[in-house]
Amino acid sequence: MALFFALVLMSHPSFYWGVASAAFQVEGAPDASDWREWTESPGRIKDSSTAKQATNFWNRYDEDFKLTEELGANAYRLSIAWERIEPEKGKWNLEAIAHYEKIVTALRARHLEPFVTLHHFVLPKWLAAEGGLLAPDFPKYFERYGMLVVDRLSAAPFSVRYWMTFNEPGVLARGGYLVGDWPPGEKDQTAKALLAMKNMAEAHLLLVRACDASHPTLQWGIAHHIRDFQPKSSANPVAWLASQLVDWIFNRQFLNSLDGKIFFWAPGVWPLRKKVDLGERKYALDFLGINYYGRSLVSFSLKPPFIEAEEGPGQKTDIGWEIYPAGLKNVLKHNYARYHLPILISENGVADRDDRFRCQFIKDHVAAMQAAQAEGVEVLGYLHWSLTDNFEWAEGLHQRFGLVAIDYENGQARKPRPSYECYRDVISSSR
Ligand code: FCB
Repeated sequence: MALFFALVLMSHPSFYWGVASAAFQVEGAPDASDWREWTESPGRIKDSSTAKQATNFWNRYDEDFKLTEELGANAYRLSIAWERIEPEKGKWNLEAIAHYEKIVTALRARHLEPFVTLHHFVLPKWLAAEGGLLAPDFPKYFERYGMLVVDRLSAAPFSVRYWMTFNEPGVLARGGYLVGDWPPGEKDQTAKALLAMKNMAEAHLLLVRACDASHPTLQWGIAHHIRDFQPKSSANPVAWLASQLVDWIFNRQFLNSLDGKIFFWAPGVWPLRKKVDLGERKYALDFLGINYYGRSLVSFSLKPPFIEAEEGPGQKTDIGWEIYPAGLKNVLKHNYARYHLPILISENGVADRDDRFRCQFIKDHVAAMQAAQAEGVEVLGYLHWSLTDNFEWAEGLHQRFGLVAIDYENGQARKPRPSYECYRDVISSSR
């Protein structure tokens, strides 16, 4: 018995240090996705770049895993490209699955625990043509695709244990249906944004329920973008109310729905409800992945949608986001108190081409995380966004989030920035 527990402890380290990535942003994008089409239509991407080549991770993954191993890390987050696995409706590309098996094998060979996201913003074109996230059958399609990938990659010797269904459902719904700078490019469609979130919540519930029956030892999460929403003026009760409302809409309703009682609402929109029976489970998450990038200062506005949110006044990164490490401690504490689940920091990073802030950014955010841990928050790991520069959605290739620079003009050569060494030191001094 003692030997058994010793083996379990050995195979699951108590803390994961690592990096996070997403298929479309690094692999080099196949033709079959909504985002590939979007990036190739004029005016969509700020610097007119495409993700056609990206960092060529699809072929060079092991170089990246070597760099990750040399950081002293023990975890790597990647996502699976649905459009590679199911390029045509119901037709599975077995070669693509076999390639992901090779990728996971390479991770295991370098002692890196894979954290796998099944959906990171991108849809197969055939599904986009059926209505994408709004398609009535979206949850079933996702369950079918997810089950296939889970069956293959959770089997020995790949043995993927940590799974995330969706990346940032709220951010995706906002880009596609409120701001319109992401596919399908619709603006101010609050009802559609809510329906998209409801369908993703339902898809998550269906897949977790199905996998509980066939793969009961897997650990389920999502990677949820959680912002620290604060009232712009702390003395103003209306601003406080507005901050609570936006916190509930953006941060909490998705997570609350994962108890099987789906409920989505926003001002001016009819609520969406649905029940999914979870069987033995009370809640369809085993860990909560939080992508933390900053805070928003919230005030009430007289114009629809009656709420305004802006960046705080602190130091800004290349992309214009404020650097605000204190918010990480806040969101860790609030969400641990609400959901009582181990938290994975599934993303945290900075757009910083000249590597001016990244080292301090990492130190300050890790310190904020450790302060939350000292107050009792259970943190499973910290995954920095990102190992390498990559394709940053509507921004294109010019925003640089990498610990390692990519030279796109010279065959995607990898060159570690000074912050790479800095993160390595943070990891080794925290062990
Ligand atoms: C997050 C996304 C990730 C990356 C970072 C900078 O919102 O999940 O893909 O673009 O922002």
